[in-house]
Amino acid sequence: TDGALREAAALVREVPDFPEPGVLFRDIGPMLASGPALGAVVSALGRSAEFDVVAGVEARGFLVGAAVAQAFGTGVIGLRKPGKLPAVADRIDYALEYGTAALELPADTLRAGQRVLVVDDVLATGGTLGAACSLVRQSGAEVAAAAVVLELTALRGRRNLPGEPVEALLQV
Ligand code: PRP
Ligand code: HPA
Repeated sequence: TDGALREAAALVREVPDFPEPGVLFRDIGPMLASGPALGAVVSALGRSAEFDVVAGVEARGFLVGAAVAQAFGTGVIGLRKPGKLPAVADRIDYALEYGTAALELPADTLRAGQRVLVVDDVLATGGTLGAACSLVRQSGAEVAAAAVVLELTALRGRRNLPGEPVEALLQV
């Protein structure tokens, strides 16, 4: 319900000057640590779209994504940072505010035509979610929705995700 989500939102902690001076970091750790809050988040995320499998983004997207998959009776795959996977199907490099990052799709996980719910904790500049959606689509699968717990609207991440079916549970 909206009430349960509002209570969950109240558990997001603000941490000034992390990871560097001037940044106000939103920490969803205390929210995920609460059973009722996690339950509210998981059921709302799972209602974002019809899907056959969940793709969680390393690392906090794994926590939320696996919970959504189990609650809705699907499997889960992990989109990983480089150097972790024994067998890589595909890789996408993307720009960060400073520098670059990459995500990899594990081999033998997604099948063509599958409807994938991409899950991450936070949408900031959108680079990560964009790379995740592209990996899914390049595999021949379909992005049912790109669902995040929290959108940091000041960073305008949606501008970098034109046409993507982005669903955010909470916005600050
Ligand atoms: C954070 C967050 C998202 C991403 C959002 O992950 O969990 O995945 O950044 O940023 P963007 O929209 O600007 O791309 P982080 O890289 O801190 O990794 P972690 O989850 O492994 O801590
Ligand atoms: N919180 C969590 N993850 C993030 C943030 C934040 O404020 N900014 C970029 N990634």
